[in-house]
Amino acid sequence: MAAINSVTDLSNEGDVAVITLNSPPVNALSAGVRDGLYEGFKAAIADDSVKSIVLICDGRTFIAGADISEFGGERKGADLPAVQDMMENSPKPVVAAIHGTALGGGLEVALVAHYRVAVPSAKVGLPEVNLGLLPGAGGTQRLPRIVGAAKALDMMTSGAHVPAKAANAMGLVDELVEEGKLREGAIAFAKKVVAENWPLKKVRDREVAGATPELFADFRKANARKFRGFLAPEYNIRCIEASTLPFDEGMKVERKLFMELMTGPQSAAQRYVFFAERAANKIPDIGDDVELLPVKSVGVIGAGTMGGGISMNFLNAGIPVKIVEMKQDALDRGLGVIRKNYENTAAKGRLTLEAVEQRMGLLTGSLALEDLADCDLIIEAVFENMDIKKEVFGKLDAIAKPGAILATNTSYLNVDEIAASTSRPESVIGLHFFSPANVMRLLEIVRGDKTSKPVVATSMKLAKTIGKVGVLVGVCNGFVGNRMLSSRQIQAQALVAEGAMPWDVDRVLYDFGFPMGPFAMSDLAGLDIGWSKEKSSSSTIREVLCEMDRRGQKTGAGYYDYDEKRNAKPSPVTEQIIKDFAANSGVNPREISDEEILERTILPMVNEGAKILEEGKALRASDVDTVWVNGYGWPVYRGGPMHYGDSLGLAKVVERLKHYQDKHGDFFKPSALLEKLAAEGKGFKDLK
Ligand code: 3HC
Ligand code: NAI
Repeated sequence: MAAINSVTDLSNEGDVAVITLNSPPVNALSAGVRDGLYEGFKAAIADDSVKSIVLICDGRTFIAGADISEFGGERKGADLPAVQDMMENSPKPVVAAIHGTALGGGLEVALVAHYRVAVPSAKVGLPEVNLGLLPGAGGTQRLPRIVGAAKALDMMTSGAHVPAKAANAMGLVDELVEEGKLREGAIAFAKKVVAENWPLKKVRDREVAGATPELFADFRKANARKFRGFLAPEYNIRCIEASTLPFDEGMKVERKLFMELMTGPQSAAQRYVFFAERAANKIPDIGDDVELLPVKSVGVIGAGTMGGGISMNFLNAGIPVKIVEMKQDALDRGLGVIRKNYENTAAKGRLTLEAVEQRMGLLTGSLALEDLADCDLIIEAVFENMDIKKEVFGKLDAIAKPGAILATNTSYLNVDEIAASTSRPESVIGLHFFSPANVMRLLEIVRGDKTSKPVVATSMKLAKTIGKVGVLVGVCNGFVGNRMLSSRQIQAQALVAEGAMPWDVDRVLYDFGFPMGPFAMSDLAGLDIGWSKEKSSSSTIREVLCEMDRRGQKTGAGYYDYDEKRNAKPSPVTEQIIKDFAANSGVNPREISDEEILERTILPMVNEGAKILEEGKALRASDVDTVWVNGYGWPVYRGGPMHYGDSLGLAKVVERLKHYQDKHGDFFKPSALLEKLAAEGKGFKDLK
């Protein structure tokens, strides 16, 4: 075997040349890999003893795409198009041998091979859209030529990873070879191609099927809501439209649109988010040497809104759950909701009935806390009340086996105080799930003063096991997410008190990219959370709405009026209440610009995020962004509040905060960290 360079080997197996890439972790198309491919193919093509060429990768995967970390940097190494030209025009058949994931540029390399073989566990896809991009190495022109326009639209706008079997059925993979025998299988396939004199198939020579104007019009219409605000899906669609042009013309469209996305702010934000989510896994004082605790059984206390959703995460991962309630009817209701959720998923064809029963089979209910004695992890999801939580943890301390992780799902309460009600605060941690807990990807992992390293490390790992993005945060009121949310809520209310209407505030935040504004959100959640008739004093707009039985969508009215289909309409009743409040408090309502609404709701969040960093309640600015993108619907193409602050420039953020501080007081006072970074001309990205 000859080394082409540090990441590429070339060997001859009889008359088959095998080019092997080995560039951990994912064989991304770095300069070294491109050079290796270029030189490897050149050598194999020039070697007269070689009749066919196999491209294969060592390690966990085939090429997983362009090297995203190189984007925006200096261009080095061979050009990818030059590599692809050489492969496609090779006079000897080229076979790509796929395992793991052939994604993005990886699949685009495979698509210039004359044939593709894969093991059944492999997956292929063009996920560039999720990085705010489109496939920029011919994928937009070649994929539709194989799978047709309709499937290409689905694949490229979702970024889906298609399993090898389905890829085989679509013609993307020519043959499946036995798991674990990829190298032998690919070599045998290459020999067969030569022996049987198969043609050198070039995808570029094929016609695109089904690219009708109606297809594109219908697809845009059906997905308008999903793609709102994003540039990349539309650009991917345009490239597929252009695949009906002669190949080289289509390639020009792809190039132009790719460059536009690549140099624009949306892709920069989405690439930032990709790395932010991965950075969140890294905890400076917790290395691989920290022992992981076994989590083979889970107990959940409380079968309410959160307890049920939390349980489903573990059942989905095949981990048995015992759920404890106070009364039989609450338990029955909780278990019933879980079953109903699974049955609804099954009715939509996304789960088999067998899988429903299998998951329900892992779930048991109980009215006795003692039944949790043998659980490895116990998550408390009872009412948000410190006394109740302390009582529960006090009892758990006596019941749980030594070493069990004791977690609370509290939204705001002090995890250290909860931990202090046990004799083992090192075992206590916050696992803050977001509603609906079986759906939302975020898990805030709240590290208490005394939480042990194994408990933290196990919780981070567990987040991955159940498909969540875990972010480590410190103890403070509302942790990272809710703490920042409350600064936005305070301003949303203040704006309404000064003359903005709830639907104005909501519209501005919706247009910014949130799925809904704060008032629509309150209507959805119910205005009466934490409200009681007895204690209501008609002193806030919300209280008055609740007193009038306008408690949100569930009562047909809240801040908005709702029709039978739950469509929201601005409400004259709410408008009058707001006007009466203003009159009674001597406020002269004024016109408030959209710009002011945006700045006053968003900039205080950036400021609060800075305070969180200052206090060390988050490890890094990108962790704060990961919380907001995954837990609160912050538009991913704006990267998160801290990235957004950076993109505005922190000097501007400070200037605008001071402007509002002059008018509305110290709520807007920029934090010391923000002032410092702004003065130094730096951003949060410069924090180490
Ligand atoms: N470039 C650079 N680094 C990458 C990378 C890439 N394309 N893909 C993954 N990595 C790195 C990750 O940052 C991570 O690094 P770390 O260990 O230092 O944090 C490491 O590889 C492992 O990644 P994951 O933790 O995500 O590992 P998983 O096993 O969970 O997932 C994966 C593997 C499915 C390949 C996933 O990493 C992934 O989806 N990667 C991105 C794939 C992608 O988007 N490809 C398209 C790139 S754009 C492109 O190709 C443009 C072209 O059209 C011109
Ligand atoms: P919920 O009121 O829907 O459910 C709480 C359940 O706990 C009830 O069914 C109650 O009967 C049960 N319960 C109370 N004391 C108990 C005890 N001693 N033993 C066993 N069961 C007991 O409340 P929800 O919304 O599920 O909230 C639970 C916790 O999750 C709270 O701490 C809340 O702050 C937190 N949380 C809530 C979110 C939400 O959106 N609802 C989001 C994130 C966290």
